Amino acid sequence: MVNVGLIGLGTVGTGVARILTGRRDLLARRLGTELVLKRAADLDPERRQAAPLEAARLTANAQDILDDPDIDIVVELIGGTTTARDLILEAVSRDRHVVTANKALLAHHGNEILAAAAQQGVEVAFEAAVCGGVPLILALRQGLAANRIQEMFGILNGTCNYILTRMSQDGMSYAQALAEAQARGYAEADPTLDVEGIDTAHKLAILVSLAYCAPLSLDPISVSGISNLDPLDLQFAREFGYAVKLLAITRNDGETIEARVHPTLIPRDHMLANVNGAFNAVYLTGDAVGPILLYGQGAGMMPTASAVVSDILDLARNLIRGVRRRVPPLGCDGALESPRNIKPLDEVVTNYYFRFAALDRPGVLSQISGILGKHDISIAAVIQKGREVKGAVPIVMITHEAKEANAKQALMEIDRLPIVSPPAVFYRIEDPHLHAAQI
Ligand code: NDP
Ligand code: HSE
Repeated sequence: MVNVGLIGLGTVGTGVARILTGRRDLLARRLGTELVLKRAADLDPERRQAAPLEAARLTANAQDILDDPDIDIVVELIGGTTTARDLILEAVSRDRHVVTANKALLAHHGNEILAAAAQQGVEVAFEAAVCGGVPLILALRQGLAANRIQEMFGILNGTCNYILTRMSQDGMSYAQALAEAQARGYAEADPTLDVEGIDTAHKLAILVSLAYCAPLSLDPISVSGISNLDPLDLQFAREFGYAVKLLAITRNDGETIEARVHPTLIPRDHMLANVNGAFNAVYLTGDAVGPILLYGQGAGMMPTASAVVSDILDLARNLIRGVRRRVPPLGCDGALESPRNIKPLDEVVTNYYFRFAALDRPGVLSQISGILGKHDISIAAVIQKGREVKGAVPIVMITHEAKEANAKQALMEIDRLPIVSPPAVFYRIEDPHLHAAQI
């Protein structure tokens, strides 16, 4: 028998409790012995009352889980980076294996936690921390271990993808779509983590570590979210044949690694453009396997619980066989000691979408394109829509590849032109057809 202690009976914890109590036979068949949810803790009495567990096994005090000598695996599902850190470090120091879905904690304190686990010789598993129910961590740690990962494009936040889908397909307002995502249990307790791209950055930090055998690090990841996205840009993007997705992007050129999170225009016929609602996907290229798409529900009670329980089973199997730490948590021995060079955002070369609000006068386009040309930015397509409204007309451009620093410098100069109402809007584009067109 393997005993599990669960801390946090919120959205994900409730799903985990349901699976552990409702599928005992299935799990016992898979494991060869019983997997028992021995105790569960939550601060909220209503959550405890709603849990599928008899009262004697429930507690308000997480310490009761750590103090129970029969518990083999501690599952942290409270979220946050303070109490969760303390609980996990204590569990590790008391020789318990740990499962968590807490990507914020891993991004901020993962190195400390994984070092402590290595020192103690216990496991810390986190399949649910990236892409909810999609077994992406398993794929990176094991299934793709033969590969050098060349690039990854991820839709990693269910809340943002849900909002973008509802806005672009159903014309819903940003606020309404966010409220729906929250009601469905996709959003973080503080939804600014979702909409400002921070949750995606937490997840990207984990993926970069796994892909490139590096310590966890949030600092070098540049981040912008979707909270300021104007529906007008979704429409214009569509006219150019693009969908807008909040993407986590990482690329390895052999010397430096790109790591960035931002709303991105991608061709509407790209597989990622058709990932909708709370679904997540990662499109990655390995040098042996080629391109791979992993796709599934990235948030919500049962998909996330599915991933948490897969970790519990994995650790339980190790316990039964008397095996520890067969696969390193970040997929490489020594990952915590091998920092990588991250390419500064200003050095990144990509394509751009620009929208200017300009006066409808002869010569306006040539002034704008003159500044772009001066900064080595060539225009691939342009549209100007309608006549002047409230003193300005939108001019929208798609560019060929240009350096980020040049794009920013050019936009600063254009914003100073008297014929333009600043600020210019700009988004990055990932479109292999545009690269080919320039050659
Ligand atoms: P919830 O906010 O729904 O649940 C957290 C629960 O933990 C609440 O009931 C909370 O009680 C309780 N809690 C907080 N502190 C303590 C404590 N010290 N002791 C006992 N209970 C405590 O969060 P989620 O289930 O949505 O998320 C849990 C974790 O999973 C987070 O790290 C999140 O980022 C991650 N995650 C969530 C996904 C999702 O789709 N929701 C998907 C993937 C990962 P109270 O409300 O009273 O504070
Ligand atoms: N808030 C997160 C999301 C939960 O919306 O993707 C899953 O990590």
